[in-house]
Amino acid sequence: MKKNPVSRRSFVKMSTASLAALSLPELVSAQSEAPQQQQRPERQPADPIVAQPGNADAFTRYFFDSLMFESRYLDSDIPSTKLELFGETFDTPIMTAALSHLRVPNGNGLVVYAQAAKACNAVHWFGMGEDKDLEDIIATGARTIKVIKPHADNAEIFRRIKHAVNAGCFALGMDIDHSFDFKGNYDTVLGLPMKAKTTAEIRSFVKAAGSKPFIVKGVLSVSEAKKCLQAGCAGIVISHHGGHLKYSIPPLMVIEDIVDAVGGKMRIFVDCGITSGFDAYKCMALGADAVSVGRHLMPLLQNGADAVANRIKAMTAELAGVMTATGVHNLGEFDPSVIHRVL
Ligand SMILES: Cc1cc2nc3c(=O)[nH]c(=O)nc-3n(C[C@H](O)[C@H](O)[C@H](O)COP(=O)(O)O)c2cc1C
Repeated sequence: MKKNPVSRRSFVKMSTASLAALSLPELVSAQSEAPQQQQRPERQPADPIVAQPGNADAFTRYFFDSLMFESRYLDSDIPSTKLELFGETFDTPIMTAALSHLRVPNGNGLVVYAQAAKACNAVHWFGMGEDKDLEDIIATGARTIKVIKPHADNAEIFRRIKHAVNAGCFALGMDIDHSFDFKGNYDTVLGLPMKAKTTAEIRSFVKAAGSKPFIVKGVLSVSEAKKCLQAGCAGIVISHHGGHLKYSIPPLMVIEDIVDAVGGKMRIFVDCGITSGFDAYKCMALGADAVSVGRHLMPLLQNGADAVANRIKAMTAELAGVMTATGVHNLGEFDPSVIHRVL
């Protein structure tokens, strides 16, 4: 990413420069407002650091929108969005996110969500839930990655790993960012006690998964990414779990450093706040192999699997649209120098 640290001061300067285009009466009136403009630059109300301090979701959105593309039409062509992952081929790098407890009228929202992933040949993720939920999800045919909670009881984790492997999961993993409650205690999820895991424990889960790839979800630092690599993980999800920790850095801001440290040795996935193919492109140009979308798809579940699948297809078309405009022929050709940070 090309960093262009345009400060508030230069934004004020830019708006002052545009004063040259005004007639004299307009100029007098505009200049009389200039001191006020300097105190309140026009961007300020949208700036989440000011409006919503500590809101990681809001800042993640803001950061997404601060990244712009340069175009590269020459030698470009219609691209392929095929994703090769763990020996299988998918039509899109836009995956569902690991969700849980989804309700829809007359059915299990978790199953509808899986049906959607199957309908557009996307990788499907599933979070917390019962064994039966997982079996029903697998029965849809969706290639599913099961994310197991960091239960305090490792025997329960090993039991769930065994069940996920036997049920036919495509891969599995753990959301390590659910270990604590952010009030200084271990977390409790639906009455179930959680506990932080050591790198050695993660290694034991990787081993228990056998030939199935094991992925740690909730990584936001190079040091943790390296520990996951040491533990033998096949991938990580760079994620702040929808702003669990206040002031969490946007995943986009750490992708490049993490890719520099562990890229090529493990698969890098990203979630949090992705709502378009443009967002997906930005993550992938910075080094992600694929991205997940959760809350943006959730409301569509009420309209059925096709509605969710159609949205994933539309986002994939948006992604392909930016690929055409930037000379990217396939998912292996992204170039971070296309991205410019303008805010
Ligand atoms: C209703 C709901 C349930 C979730 N359940 C889980 C879960 O069980 N396991 C998990 O790893 N993440 C879970 N997440 C977090 C998502 O996987 C994802 O990290 C987060 O929502 C950010 O992505 P998004 O902005 O696209 O929603 C859940 C999120 C939501 C909204």
